[in-house]
Amino acid sequence: MSRGLILGIESSCDETAASVVERGSRTLSSVVASQIATHARFGGVVPELASREHLRAIVPVVRAALAEAGVGFDDLDAIAVTSGPGLAGALLVGISYAKALAFARNLPVIAINHLEGHIHAVLLEERQNAPASTQQDEPALALVVSGGHTHLYLAEPAHEAWHYKLIGRTLDDAAGEAYDKVAKLLGLGYPGGPWIDAIARFGDPKAVPFAFAQIKAKAHLHGKAPRTKAAKTAPIADLDPHFLFSFSGIKTAVLRHVELQGMRAGGDERIAKILAGDRPPKTKEEALALAPQPILDMIASFQHAVVGDLMKKTFAAAESLGATRILVTGGVAANRELRERFAAEAPRRHMRVSFPTPALSTDNAAMIAAAAWPRFVSGEFAASALSAEPSLAL
Ligand code: KG4
Ligand code: ZN
Repeated sequence: MSRGLILGIESSCDETAASVVERGSRTLSSVVASQIATHARFGGVVPELASREHLRAIVPVVRAALAEAGVGFDDLDAIAVTSGPGLAGALLVGISYAKALAFARNLPVIAINHLEGHIHAVLLEERQNAPASTQQDEPALALVVSGGHTHLYLAEPAHEAWHYKLIGRTLDDAAGEAYDKVAKLLGLGYPGGPWIDAIARFGDPKAVPFAFAQIKAKAHLHGKAPRTKAAKTAPIADLDPHFLFSFSGIKTAVLRHVELQGMRAGGDERIAKILAGDRPPKTKEEALALAPQPILDMIASFQHAVVGDLMKKTFAAAESLGATRILVTGGVAANRELRERFAAEAPRRHMRVSFPTPALSTDNAAMIAAAAWPRFVSGEFAASALSAEPSLAL
């Protein structure tokens, strides 16, 4: 009898990942090869380098995932692969590998949207932790907040599959992109999220009143051309403006604040230290060795403002839709302050909030294999012409 084993493959950005998940609910292995060291000295992901690194990593990463799970190719029932959104060349490495393996082993391929994967990272862990008898999937408002996306969806179980309705999104940069840009501006390491997360603990979050404007009228949005990679993946015209985000201005606000205060963060010497593989600070002394107190305060204020804006719009959207369950997922969901504040606010509103563990918040392949399970059950397999869809919307 089939064990319901799905091999998940993820290569949409800068992580090459493979995982074996049983029946969409038990993770037998999850292997992630990060390319952070390759891209760090450029302060961002370089697409050509990403493709090359995926090519190098894909075979050993899949082998490691099978070995860790204690299974062989013959035990697999299907291969799930991210087909978009993401970098075209990077996606193609995973897709080509999945198709070749499927052909050689006569296995079906299941194409998965990366954003659906992020949502299933939470569902997978909930199923893993709850006894089967108590498992029931109810509709949820999902905030997918990462380096490429800041999107709100209403996720509803529909027969074997899930149905997603876009509720809100960023008009320009993603929240993670704002973290990465501000960190780069201040001479911190890459990616910026974990650095700012670590440093923010040692600053005063109320020191600088960074503010986000409420996007008011829908009329302004009609015909507006998408400006960044994040904006391309979904339409905006029909969305309630209360649930729209904009993170492209905060970098300028941070820069202006630094200039006005005549402050300097980092320096060439420190940047060199960071690029040599330094890690985010763990103590206040280490944080102060990186930047003076006013910079620590500004970093804490930046994070406080971003998390506050994410909270305000997510809870408002949940309330307006009558959803009592919130899922927060994607790289930024690993953020300590975000988790604490969402967890504190939810019971006040009679809602429940869940996050994946930090390891499953950032890109991984367990979420791809988990998202594929309902499609496997209903026999929704990809055609042999499957190719990369860099701007795929959910
Ligand atoms: O989901 P992910 O691994 O890749 C994308 O699909 O984009 O997310 C990566 C993003 C980066 O922008 C990174 O700075 C951010 O997630 N990130 C964080 C934290 N850890 C990663 N942002 C804030 N706090 C963190 N602890
Ligand atoms: Zn992602």
